[in-house]
Amino acid sequence: MLVTGGNRGIGRAIVERFLADGHRVCSADLGGEPPAGALGVTCNVADPAQVEAAFAAAEDAHGPVEILVANAGITRDSLIMRMTDEQFDAVLDVNLKGCFNVARRGVKSMMRGRYGRVVFMGSVVGLFGNAGQVNYSASKAALVGMARSLTREVGKRGITFNVVAPGFIETEMTAVLPTEVTDGFKAQTPAGRMGSVADIAHAVRFLTSDEAGYISGAVIPVDGGLGMGH
Ligand code: NAI
Repeated sequence: MLVTGGNRGIGRAIVERFLADGHRVCSADLGGEPPAGALGVTCNVADPAQVEAAFAAAEDAHGPVEILVANAGITRDSLIMRMTDEQFDAVLDVNLKGCFNVARRGVKSMMRGRYGRVVFMGSVVGLFGNAGQVNYSASKAALVGMARSLTREVGKRGITFNVVAPGFIETEMTAVLPTEVTDGFKAQTPAGRMGSVADIAHAVRFLTSDEAGYISGAVIPVDGGLGMGH
């Protein structure tokens, strides 16, 4: 399997979960160190040539990639009047184009094998919205359309495409937020706490299992009730 952004945070927890389950795992990440036992490949998902090289390395080491978790994502938050073109483009390049790049490459070999599991890492704010995240929420909402169109294109080939939509999860991405923002999110979350990276890894494990072969085009919230149907 191949996980993008698997050296840190949610992606790292997914890599560790699947290694523990006995999978051969490649982490394609911009930097950092992969968990012990995973194949680490340096890759910027926004660059199709680097994505091609990452898949080639994973295939050389492990054989065809049957499970793809498109997890790499970034934020460049700002209110719209102050949001620059660079902030908008950077987020769309990684979060949306990056998912397109890996899905296009991944589907190629999955179609040959007539089996595949693709999970895109969305976000509760993709459908719920969030002030200051016009770029980020648009990029995450777009993944729903991508998963559903891919399901229609290649659903007959035994490949599923789903979106996991995490709520507010304790990682380095959220550690930088001011306490009043963190407290505000916790207050809005019926579970009354932030989620853990393991909460997300478990949902990904289910969606990529053989048993989940009839689930495709779905958005699975893992958010303690924050989005409530959005
Ligand atoms: P993180 O910032 O802790 O880790 C992201 C990882 O992706 C890092 O290892 C980073 O090097 C890698 N990465 C960034 N840009 C990349 C690129 N261009 N190519 C390859 N790798 C790249 O983030 P976190 O919190 O683990 O988030 C993972 C995913 O979950 C992201 O897509 C994020 O949008 C999403 N998410 C996170 C939530 C949270 O509360 N932490 C909530 C909802 C969604």
